[in-house]
Amino acid sequence: SRNVDKSADGVLEVAGLDVDRIAAAVGTPAYVVDAADLKARAREFAEAFAGWQVYYAGKSFLCTAVARWVVAEGLGVDVCSGGELAVALRAGVDSALIGLHGNNKSEEELRTGLAAGVGRIIVDSFDEIGRLQRLARYLEVRPRVMVRVTTGVEAHTHEFIATAHEDQKFGFSIAGGQAAEALRACHESDVLDLIGIHSHIGSQIFDTEGFEVAARRTLRLAADFSARCGVALPELDLGGGFGIAYTSSDTPATPAALAGAMRAIVDGECAALGIAVPHLSIEPGRAISGPSTFALYRVGTVKKVLLDGGSSRLYVAVDGGMSDNIRTALYGAEYSATLASRRSDAPPVLSRVVGKHCEGGDILVRDEFLPADIAPGDLLAVPAAGAYSHSMASNYNHVPRPPVVGVEDAEITTLVRRETIDDLLALDVG
Ligand code: LLP
Repeated sequence: SRNVDKSADGVLEVAGLDVDRIAAAVGTPAYVVDAADLKARAREFAEAFAGWQVYYAGKSFLCTAVARWVVAEGLGVDVCSGGELAVALRAGVDSALIGLHGNNKSEEELRTGLAAGVGRIIVDSFDEIGRLQRLARYLEVRPRVMVRVTTGVEAHTHEFIATAHEDQKFGFSIAGGQAAEALRACHESDVLDLIGIHSHIGSQIFDTEGFEVAARRTLRLAADFSARCGVALPELDLGGGFGIAYTSSDTPATPAALAGAMRAIVDGECAALGIAVPHLSIEPGRAISGPSTFALYRVGTVKKVLLDGGSSRLYVAVDGGMSDNIRTALYGAEYSATLASRRSDAPPVLSRVVGKHCEGGDILVRDEFLPADIAPGDLLAVPAAGAYSHSMASNYNHVPRPPVVGVEDAEITTLVRRETIDDLLALDVG
């Protein structure tokens, strides 16, 4: 991927800048975004899915700059909390291009969304349908609503991030009949404008089969609904979840291939059902924000640990860890790491990149071969770290969160500044 190019001296560079310059300017750890690459990925989705609306899933990583970049490429923004909504609104995203998600949105979040006039609210429970109707009546608005359904698809991904099998918290079950019931409730409401169905099957998915099955099941549900209620559902959202390459063994489909497969299924199924093709949308997050960014760390200690059988492993501790990227600890996610600040001809040795937190599970990269002479002061880059890392960061051990910087045309722009210990102390008002 283009954001891990190295110059002849072995120094990683991004958009014409060496990482040692970036580290000197902004410190470590830091998230370094290749801005042109992120924009190109957004544009690639918009072009591949031309005629559909692409919403960027802000949960993967959201700041005002990124919201503006993706909107400039023709995308909308999917938000799933009052905080993400606030960022999108502050970025000046047209509220008609904002979708509001969440399985337990608060009254406050719904009220803010309604007051802003978001383009669609995706409802996820009967409680919420009731709450939304009360608020809409009170505010005298008529929100456009989609019903989030559970298609029963078993997406091949980690259990914690699969969302369409039956026994989990999201959506209304199609098989169980609640989806049809929720559609009817929204249709019969005098204050809700039911526009369609929403399905999201999970995340970091590689095969198109799950999306195809979900498309078929949601279109059948739409056809049944029209037959029963006499009105067509104009829209269908097939969610996000398109996988990216974290290591060289991952082989994601291109947006063009995904679009081709999904269009064919939708067109074929609509023809078979005798319904008009609805206006379609998708919500990729990771595929846009993930590959364009690497995490940059400085090595602090290197320890050789002897393993059973006489071999050994280098434990390379960096100045971040599970507080800035919990994905390895939480999902067993796989990343790679590369020595970024110099060339080394030392033999590669089995290594593990760990953080500075007080627990053994604080691992960033479980297995990697790093040069045997790796040493304190070296810079390490972890590629494909733009999605669900900074957005899931914590202050475990009172460690301030790293900044996110964009690099474009050899210039660095701070997108999210580094947190300071003073920021943390300011929260402690006891
Ligand atoms: N739309 C909905 C309704 C979603 O729930 C999600 C992700 C997306 C779109 C975007 O999915 P993406 O294209 O980014 O895969 N923290 C986990 C991922 C959780 C995904 C939650 N929903 C991880 O780090 O892998």
